[in-house]
Amino acid sequence: MDGKILVTGGAGYVGSHVAMALADAGLVPIILDDFSSSSRAVLPRLSALAGRTVEHVEADVRDTAALRKLFHDHPIAAVIHCAGLKGVGDGETRPLAFWDVNVGGTMALAEVMGEAGVARLVFSSSATVYGQPESLPVGEDAPLKPNGVYGRTKRAAEDFLRDLTRANPNWRIALLRYFNPAGAHPSARIGEAPLGRPDNLVPLLCRIAGGGFGELAIFGSDWPTEDGTGVRDYLHVQDLAEGHLAAIRFLATAPGATAFNLGMGRGWSVLEVVRAFEAACGRRIARSFVPRRPGDVACYYADPARAEALLAWRARRDLDAICADAWRWQLAGGGY
Ligand SMILES: NC(=O)c1ccc[n+]([C@@H]2O[C@H](COP(=O)([O-])OP(=O)(O)OC[C@H]3O[C@@H](n4cnc5c(N)ncnc54)[C@H](O)[C@@H]3O)[C@@H](O)[C@H]2O)c1
Repeated sequence: MDGKILVTGGAGYVGSHVAMALADAGLVPIILDDFSSSSRAVLPRLSALAGRTVEHVEADVRDTAALRKLFHDHPIAAVIHCAGLKGVGDGETRPLAFWDVNVGGTMALAEVMGEAGVARLVFSSSATVYGQPESLPVGEDAPLKPNGVYGRTKRAAEDFLRDLTRANPNWRIALLRYFNPAGAHPSARIGEAPLGRPDNLVPLLCRIAGGGFGELAIFGSDWPTEDGTGVRDYLHVQDLAEGHLAAIRFLATAPGATAFNLGMGRGWSVLEVVRAFEAACGRRIARSFVPRRPGDVACYYADPARAEALLAWRARRDLDAICADAWRWQLAGGGY
């Protein structure tokens, strides 16, 4: 492909693995990030892994002047838009920031892409757009009823992007609804490095097994699932990154906006993940049960059939690989 692929949020967890997958495929990523929730130290690691300098621009994705300069200075063929604020709990306390970055940032980016004549966009959406699923597995045509601020900003950004493609058929957009990405690059050089106490199960298990992080509080033991704990669809971040590559290729020929579920297509309960992680790290995870959190759902997992049919993509790495790679990352320091 001629030109570079802009990865916004490319210093973050998903974006850094996407940048690596692009480089591995012989494509040229360029990262835009403001490092508000990531570390600059990821950049030399990416360059070392890629065997060449991975370029980056430090800027806020809402800064249209900085975006215009970037598109002027670099031949951009397509954009993968990972920059955003995430976290179900965080969204409830910071609605202005979440709407501004997740929706405003997407609008600013689209504005400058339109001016520059760049029409291929892969957007990081989330399974949270579905809210409480009415049936399982969750297909892309399931109702979008997010039950929190974070999910609503993702749905709004999706709506906006669909409106763009309706008004101008030149746009080609893939809306990737991630289920639960976890794990790390097998080199243990890049991985998930949450600032503060992790929100997600696997990084939390890493920290607890690493010591000094107390025990695992499991929210609810009375869900209507086989063992009473919540069930989620975990997919390896490497598989997720490869899904972005497949989406970029798909957009070479596909007009309009298309949503894709990226997940394994099956669920694991919290206790199943804990057991798999204990096997990977050879340590016991101390845990206790606490009441359910409001807004949580019992169980969800993806129907990834559309991604398989149209993107020729399927998550190939299993839960054991997720846990083994996450633990290797933790043993290497688990951060930057
Ligand atoms: N990790 C998950 O579990 C998950 C699940 C579903 C969807 N997503 C979505 O995927 C995307 C990436 O998630 P992640 O897990 O890599 O998160 P992350 O926080 O690790 O990465 C986000 C990156 O965006 C950057 N960023 C934030 N605001 C910015 C701004 N205004 N301008 C420029 N850069 C900015 C951050 O510095 C960070 O490097 C997000 O949009 C997120 O909502 C993530």
